[in-house]
Amino acid sequence: MMTVTTLLKEIADVGRDGVRGGYTRPVYSSAETELREWFRAAAHSRGLGVETDRNGVIWAWWGEPQDGALVTGSHLDSVPGGGAFDGPLGVASALSAIDHLRQRGVQPSRSIAAVVFPEEEGSRFGVACLGSRLMTGAIDPDRARALTDAEGRTFADVAAANGLDPAHIGHDPSGLARIGQFIELHVEQGRGLGQCGPSVAVGDSVLGHGRWRFLLSGQGNHAGTTLMEDRRDPMIVAAKIILAVQRLATSTPQARATVGRILPVPGGTNVIASRVELWLDVRHPDDLVTADLVQRINDAAAAAAAEEGCDCVLIEESLSPTVHLDPALRARMALALPDGRVLDTGAGHDAAILAAVVPSGMLFTRNAEGISHSPEEHVEDADAEAGAAVLADVLEALL
Ligand code: GLV
Ligand code: MN
Ligand code: MN
Repeated sequence: MMTVTTLLKEIADVGRDGVRGGYTRPVYSSAETELREWFRAAAHSRGLGVETDRNGVIWAWWGEPQDGALVTGSHLDSVPGGGAFDGPLGVASALSAIDHLRQRGVQPSRSIAAVVFPEEEGSRFGVACLGSRLMTGAIDPDRARALTDAEGRTFADVAAANGLDPAHIGHDPSGLARIGQFIELHVEQGRGLGQCGPSVAVGDSVLGHGRWRFLLSGQGNHAGTTLMEDRRDPMIVAAKIILAVQRLATSTPQARATVGRILPVPGGTNVIASRVELWLDVRHPDDLVTADLVQRINDAAAAAAAEEGCDCVLIEESLSPTVHLDPALRARMALALPDGRVLDTGAGHDAAILAAVVPSGMLFTRNAEGISHSPEEHVEDADAEAGAAVLADVLEALL
């Protein structure tokens, strides 16, 4: 029987980022590959049957692979400089929950699988939940194959280098048929459970979210010889866009909009940039409000670009509607919790993508400060263990 804390200790040194702090574990990097190997080894040591499907999802089976199984898991990839728990907590809890059930002497009436989804964060190829989107057919495989990382490598090439056949990625009805119910345990990423709440809550809604990319172009030039009035500087446009994002989102109740990634080209101290790529993340419960907010941001961007004599193009990279996780599953899961607390989340999850096709639910483990996507993300050991025990209770109840 392994505790979640012990499992997470085994991977505590994998993908540490000495520059940003925390962990940088982009999908199919050496760090994430090492974590995938760790998961396979942990599954083998438990006598679970391991297979990797055509979209790179790893399945570890307690019992024979079968349709309608009880499936639980999360992801191992991270944002740049992320915390130790976003993803790995759900994977370690899945393994630990299986240990709990065995220790309790449970003989499952149907098979249970622990799973790992690739590229949940979209931090390498830009589209979040790429594995579950491929599996459910929510992204065109041609588009997925053509996605590129920061080095210009396509997803097709990277997938092939990691043992997948890029021609066979995409909608996987037989894989989906394997999932009777999917439960993802995840670190809580806000202060929903706070300092004194219970250790675990059941998920209700997953906030609608999307990603857009502005391509801004101007005239690259010399920082010393180009007079201020002669410039066409896309960094000025980017600065105005960032302020417009803050102004427009702040005046839209419940909206969250973020610019967290901006890439000036060529990126030199004494160089006026010729191009800037700026990524925008917008979230709101009402998808029509999201669309309207993005439109208003784009209008402000177009005006800023015109003022600077620059060009501005907006590309939608991904869009996910607000999802209500399966109500019947949620109610059954809440019964297994000491106080039945229910929480919404502002973060995206594979469970929300799968929810379009199979009954999906989530559990959130307390993170007292609510900090996430940061090295400071934290879960107390006792809460992590309580989470895995509740996951085991939920799985047992659902069997
Ligand atoms: C994933 O964690 C997201 O919400 O972007
Ligand atoms: Mn995340
Ligand atoms: Mn996550």
